[in-house]
Amino acid sequence: MDDWIDYYDSTHTIYASRLHRDLHFQLIAKDIIGYITSPDAVVLDYACGEALSAAEVADACGKLYLAEPAPGVRGRLIARFAPNTKIRVRSLDDLRKMAEKSVDLAVMNSAAQYMTPAELDSAFAVIRRLLKPSGRLVIGDILRPEVGMGRDVTALLRFAGTHGFLRDALIGLVSTALSDYRQLRARVGLQRYGEAEMIAKLAASGFSATRALSNIGHNPWRMTFVARHAF
Ligand SMILES: C[S@@+](CC[C@H](N)C(=O)[O-])C[C@H]1O[C@@H](n2cnc3c(N)ncnc32)[C@H](O)[C@@H]1O
Repeated sequence: MDDWIDYYDSTHTIYASRLHRDLHFQLIAKDIIGYITSPDAVVLDYACGEALSAAEVADACGKLYLAEPAPGVRGRLIARFAPNTKIRVRSLDDLRKMAEKSVDLAVMNSAAQYMTPAELDSAFAVIRRLLKPSGRLVIGDILRPEVGMGRDVTALLRFAGTHGFLRDALIGLVSTALSDYRQLRARVGLQRYGEAEMIAKLAASGFSATRALSNIGHNPWRMTFVARHAF
């Protein structure tokens, strides 16, 4: 396993059970929908993963582009959403060929930590080109330098406790600790950014950004940012 894209293309154990996976994607979809301001909006979900609740997001907007680098995940997305005429699946390369200024809302949730800082800059450049002048980029689940893995565990156990999959979550934590995830986290690592650092990084890519009051998803110790074109 070379990198995080391979990891997400594998049969990984990041979700402790089907229930956990389904609840995760329902929560992400609900939070993304909260950022949609018009039923005609064109929405891009950058590094969307399995996006199991994408049909709900598509119901709330005009068109939903699901962009995902892992080829196996992308194949499943194509099969799963083929009947949905509002959903289009794209590779990250495909995004470079899309019309500029065509997207109202771009979301990148829980993906920046897996990219090198240079890869994240390239992703910001691709997204900036695609965003309409009024468009917004929402970057969620950013890990802060000072918050360790213990908070990830606490956040998962709280989420599991509230939704009745605590036993699965505990088993899942053990399998994850013994898995490629742990090795990759130790070897490749996860990128972390402080609040000011992420705002400065976005500014260097031509965005004006603020931190949102709450994070997308279940982990309140991670951060979400909302960015617009800086003119
Ligand atoms: C934790 S999943 C997040 C999926 C979804 N956005 C969500 O919130 O559930 C991480 C995603 O980042 C993608 N990814 C991993 N490394 C990446 C990279 N270097 N560049 C772009 N995407 C990457 C993976 O393929 C995977 O879909």
